[in-house]
Amino acid sequence: MVNYEHLYPEFIRCDDAEDINHLLAQLTDNPTPINTERLVEICTNAMTCVARDSNGHIVAMGTLSVRDIPTGKVGLLDDVVVDSSMRGRGIGRLIVKDLMKVAKTRRVSLLELTCRPTRTEANFLYEGLGFKSSPTNRYVIKF
Ligand SMILES: CC(C)(COP(=O)(O)OP(=O)(O)OC[C@H]1O[C@@H](n2cnc3c(N)ncnc32)[C@H](O)[C@@H]1OP(=O)(O)O)[C@@H](O)C(=O)NCCC(=O)NCCS
Repeated sequence: MVNYEHLYPEFIRCDDAEDINHLLAQLTDNPTPINTERLVEICTNAMTCVARDSNGHIVAMGTLSVRDIPTGKVGLLDDVVVDSSMRGRGIGRLIVKDLMKVAKTRRVSLLELTCRPTRTEANFLYEGLGFKSSPTNRYVIKF
């Protein structure tokens, strides 16, 4: 059983940065650890959707940042990761779907992300949700 929430700076808990460092280690090699102060900055600048387990620990996350530029509002999905012990239960899909909904609410016209071809699960996840591979191997979806 997990609960989903948008992590606003005022709701950050003392263990959250540590939990997110645990997730980042599963997303990238040699991640730069973050502390609570940095997490506040991140959550101020990007919508951060997290899933918490029954103990309140963050076990999955994803972020959406929006650029408002002359050609329109462009959203960028980043750092989508689910703890290895919790995968295959629909959590990653729910996080991405939630951030897609937020992007639509903010009138984003193009939502993009990058994903290495070797990330098999993630590529299936994004394609299953309607993202298309662009010629530069970036994934976008038009609303
Ligand atoms: C990619 C990731 C976020 C998926 O999270 P998850 O919670 O396990 O995924 P879900 O259970 O929501 O599955 C959603 C879809 O993802 C795909 N998927 C998930 N696990 C898969 C697997 N082992 N093999 C193939 N496809 C898989 C499927 O399309 C699945 O849809 P389906 O259940 O209808 O087949 C997770 O595997 C992860 O954190 N991977 C490491 C970090 C990473 O690669 N992040 C993406 C960076 S771009």
